[in-house]
Amino acid sequence: MKFFAQPKRYDDVTTLSDEDLICYCIEVDKKTILDAIRNGATTLSTIKETTGACTGNECKRLNPNGRCCSKEINALIQLEANDV
Ligand code: FES
Repeated sequence: MKFFAQPKRYDDVTTLSDEDLICYCIEVDKKTILDAIRNGATTLSTIKETTGACTGNECKRLNPNGRCCSKEINALIQLEANDV
């Protein structure tokens, strides 16, 4: 039986590696967001304050999803909350 790697989906944070960017405007990767959450930044607002993610304005041009990264940040917050 052959296993094929799952294609990367930029709108599904579970398929992204730690080094993959979540915020393309500010260049904040998944690990940085996860570390912030694990250190107590458990809202979009506190993630913005601690990492700078989701504070850019070039989302349409830089983000492969063509929009702001807030959806992916909220998904990571949910994933971590469900992991506890
Ligand atoms: S992709 Fe995060 S602010 Fe634009």
